Amino acid sequence: MTADVTLDVEGVADPSRTGPALEVTDLQVEFRTRAGLAHAVNGVTFHVDAGETLAILGESGCGKSVTAQAVMGILDSPPGFVTGGQIRYRGKDLLKMSEQQRRAVRANQIAMIFQDALSALNPVFTVGFQLAELFRKHRGMSRAEGRKRAVELLDLVRIPAARQRVRDFPHQFSGGMRQRVMIAMALALDPEVLIADEPTTALDVTVQAQIMSLLAELQRERQMGLILITHDMGVVADVADRISVMYAGRMVEQAPVHEVYARPSHPYTKALLESVPRLDQKGRQLSVIQGLPPTLTAIPPGCAFNPRCRYAREECRQPPVPPLYEVADRHASACHFWQEVRQDD
Ligand SMILES: Nc1ncnc2c1ncn2[C@@H]1O[C@H](COP(=O)(O)OP(=O)(O)O)[C@@H](O)[C@H]1O
Ligand SMILES: [Mg+2]
Repeated sequence: MTADVTLDVEGVADPSRTGPALEVTDLQVEFRTRAGLAHAVNGVTFHVDAGETLAILGESGCGKSVTAQAVMGILDSPPGFVTGGQIRYRGKDLLKMSEQQRRAVRANQIAMIFQDALSALNPVFTVGFQLAELFRKHRGMSRAEGRKRAVELLDLVRIPAARQRVRDFPHQFSGGMRQRVMIAMALALDPEVLIADEPTTALDVTVQAQIMSLLAELQRERQMGLILITHDMGVVADVADRISVMYAGRMVEQAPVHEVYARPSHPYTKALLESVPRLDQKGRQLSVIQGLPPTLTAIPPGCAFNPRCRYAREECRQPPVPPLYEVADRHASACHFWQEVRQDD
């Protein structure tokens, strides 16, 4: 069965690629472990339109990868369970689909690249074979056609001497080149949404920049919705249209990227910004955020950031959790004292 048949159930994907492609609403994910119940994703809402880049930003352990895994339907389950919310691709709730339908979406409409390309590629087959297999399996192409497309894809991601390199195995590529192969695999079936989970973290700085600009270029050319997951505020300024900042399983700030830089409105975002070196502020002391994010089995009451927050008052240490206040047009912050945070430089 081809993916197109599956997607025809309630009307096909919009070929013009405009409007919201992926909408996640009030997503909840729990891990049931011996250490207790970890609420890894706790009411997360975001969307990505075709042709735009959304950055999901936050320190390690705040639920970014789990969010991505839930969207892709590749959550480690058990112990992980989606316990609430909706994940809609072009209006259709992925959580209500059969495993077979989801697999078709995963192959054709929503693709993902990971931090560690080596573990995501199969070590015993050449990259050309792995790419050709995708075309054979999902597009019914012959081996020869598949191989031709594999060369085109390696060219697309600017791997030099693509015609020769299709015959190489993953371990014969450098880290940066391997990440390019990963991107080629993800783009093979022309997905509308691409999720990139810390795609450059394992690479050195110059290679990181090359991969990021390649991703940004491909995103624009193909009008994909790109969800770029990162813990590095420095990476997002040039490529993202909007930013969602996550802390302890929740979104704490959402805004267009220039808004976040000009007027961060949550203390956590502000702290993340202060920890990034900026060319225009050379010599300024970099601050590192004090303390660690909470373990998700023991999230503090009230605002989860309160133990690390210089603005925190009694109100912040009590339930309820601060809601996302609308602080400006398309700009939301989950801080009771967002006005003070915005005014304070
Ligand atoms: N396989 C797992 N088993 C148990 N708990 C998990 C598992 N994966 C993730 N978690 C929980 O979810 C939290 C968020 O993880 P993750 O989404 O990977 O964070 P990050 O924001 O760094 O990507 C972890 O701190 C952990 O509590
Ligand atoms: Mg992660």
